[in-house]
Amino acid sequence: MPSTISISMNKKPIYDIRIENDFESLSEALKDLGYEGKRAAIVTDSTVGPLYADEICNKIKDVFSEVFVCIFDAGEANKNMDTVVKLLKQFTEHKMNRKDLVIALGGGVVGDTAGFCAAIYMRGIDVVQVPTTLLSQVDSSVGGKTGVDLDAYKNMVGAFKMPKLVYINTATLASLDARQFYSGMGEVMKYGLIMDASFYEWIISKMYEIHDRDASVMEEMIAHCCSCKQRIVERDPLEQGDRALLNFGHTIGHAIEKAKNFELLHGECVALGCVAAAFISFKRGKLSAEEYYEIRDMFVPFKLPISIDNIDPEEIIRLTRSDKKAMDNGIKFILLKRVGKAYIDTSVTEEEMLEGIREIEYREDNE
Ligand SMILES: NC(=O)c1ccc[n+]([C@@H]2O[C@H](COP(=O)([O-])OP(=O)(O)OC[C@H]3O[C@@H](n4cnc5c(N)ncnc54)[C@H](O)[C@@H]3O)[C@@H](O)[C@H]2O)c1
Ligand SMILES: [Zn+2]
Repeated sequence: MPSTISISMNKKPIYDIRIENDFESLSEALKDLGYEGKRAAIVTDSTVGPLYADEICNKIKDVFSEVFVCIFDAGEANKNMDTVVKLLKQFTEHKMNRKDLVIALGGGVVGDTAGFCAAIYMRGIDVVQVPTTLLSQVDSSVGGKTGVDLDAYKNMVGAFKMPKLVYINTATLASLDARQFYSGMGEVMKYGLIMDASFYEWIISKMYEIHDRDASVMEEMIAHCCSCKQRIVERDPLEQGDRALLNFGHTIGHAIEKAKNFELLHGECVALGCVAAAFISFKRGKLSAEEYYEIRDMFVPFKLPISIDNIDPEEIIRLTRSDKKAMDNGIKFILLKRVGKAYIDTSVTEEEMLEGIREIEYREDNE
């Protein structure tokens, strides 16, 4: 059953997240938002473009005076300022003005890059997010964070840019490869762990349907994640407090992502980071050993890693220091009190992190 979640700020409705199983309602939704007669730039990547750009163009071409497609090469390596400049130049070539619209069609890389372009082009034009990976449907398309990487620094340049609409077509998950799909499950499980124990139990109970990407389970799961993120973002849109809870697993996860030169996917690194953070929570007496091992082992059926080889724990620590968030204000580490309840802790030491990283280091006697 298609559903809609409305995002508000200070009790004012800001935008809707529509969860659908096709692109049929997209043109009507864009008309309702008042884009008739404007131009639309569909920004996408070299994998998603050939799969869905034509279909969307055909569906929405009657709404706009012009629809054009801007494609860049897929992959995190292209989430950078060079791509931003190329896209902005294409906007000017097509004489895009402040009333026109950017449609971000793709995973988190497209959403973050296109959203950032929309935030800065002519001091800001509208953007609609059409996320096509599980990770972008449950996480990156919601909440308005956009940006690109700068050298080794992930998401170093960016802006808060709320979309006018998030249109999720769950049918696009059918073309996603298995590794990317399960990477998204890393973020799905994160929501359960940090804020919703009954959702966590539900995920486990629906394991087989999730493997099959069963349409109604996908819709329910994605809607639930979006409403978790909505609750946090509404409380703390600019990440001054509770929004940091979403970073559970990310301090160590991001460092591993960098140490491994982005060979591992984001959600895979998040799973490893969650295991390390749960271990630290256990060492601090917040979780029992049994709870810790259950949390750790539950990533396995969702094809996510719980240990990693060829890492240098000291290097991972060094990399956590260069994390943008650490540069802000010292590390706000997220720990668990129990499944479904996370909290922010600013007292986690590098020794504790080192122990957490050693716990996930692959050793034969560690398995
Ligand atoms: N803005 C935020 O709040 C936020 C939150 C989490 C993650 N992120 C960012 O999101 C990015 C990761 O996003 P991602 O995991 O979606 O990666 P991605 O955008 O690189 O997509 C993964 C791969 O899947 C392909 N793909 C996308 N949709 C497809 C489909 N339906 N069928 C077949 N192939 C498809 C892409 O072309 C790409 O090759 C990172 O850069 C991360 O920093 C942002
Ligand atoms: Zn993440």
